Amino acid sequence: MRKPVIAANWKMYKTTNEAKNFVKQFKPLVEKNTEVEIVLCVPYTSLESLSEELKNEQIGLGAQNMYPINQGAFTGEISAEMLLNLGIKYVIIGHSERRQIFNETDEFIKQKLEKALVVGLTPILCIGETLEERESGATLTKCKTQIESAIQGVPKENLPKIIIAYEPIWAIGTGKTASPEDAEETIKGIRSIIAEIFDIEAAQKVRIQYGGSVNPENIKDLMSKDNIDGALVGGASLEATSFAQIVNYK
Ligand code: G3P
Repeated sequence: MRKPVIAANWKMYKTTNEAKNFVKQFKPLVEKNTEVEIVLCVPYTSLESLSEELKNEQIGLGAQNMYPINQGAFTGEISAEMLLNLGIKYVIIGHSERRQIFNETDEFIKQKLEKALVVGLTPILCIGETLEERESGATLTKCKTQIESAIQGVPKENLPKIIIAYEPIWAIGTGKTASPEDAEETIKGIRSIIAEIFDIEAAQKVRIQYGGSVNPENIKDLMSKDNIDGALVGGASLEATSFAQIVNYK
């Protein structure tokens, strides 16, 4: 059985002090929760402080991006090795905002995913369709393109180390969550695509999250679906009580 994994993606919110205050509030609310893998993906500026705050805690820490080269003249970038050096365990890769705003290509995202796996980070690979693609019935075609590009060359034994986050772009930050049924149908389709590339056994081991306007009111129904293994949460993860309610959905 796949262990549920629920991650916060704070995006570009919270100063380091705000992040520390969040953790102080959040920790006691989830300390009894051993059934869900909990991850906080925070801005780079808070990684070192929170790494200290969360030492020996069951809450994992993640970055929201990385650069796929060890070091060099890449102004403003952060390498996977630098993240590892801070004790970071997870990294979001290919978020739709990075694809759309910063023009990250499938090829660049593939390089990031491979580098994250090589150094031992757990990548959270984001995929998902636009509203136009959904309305034209191209959802799985889009997801297939993104998945094939990213994981084609990954050794099968590394596949379970990847967390995939299916985030329909039209649901991100809009309050329009995909219905649990639609999310389940698409994620089941994503799992079938992985089975075509590798095999059913390997596909069954990959954890696939849903992301896009997840909140305390809809998490339970989403998590009741067989193929949904967790959530990647934006806005509703910025407040400790709200994110704790999501994590403690059972
Ligand atoms: O990565 C998670 C994010 O894209 C979802 O944002 O605010 O719709 O939960 P939100």
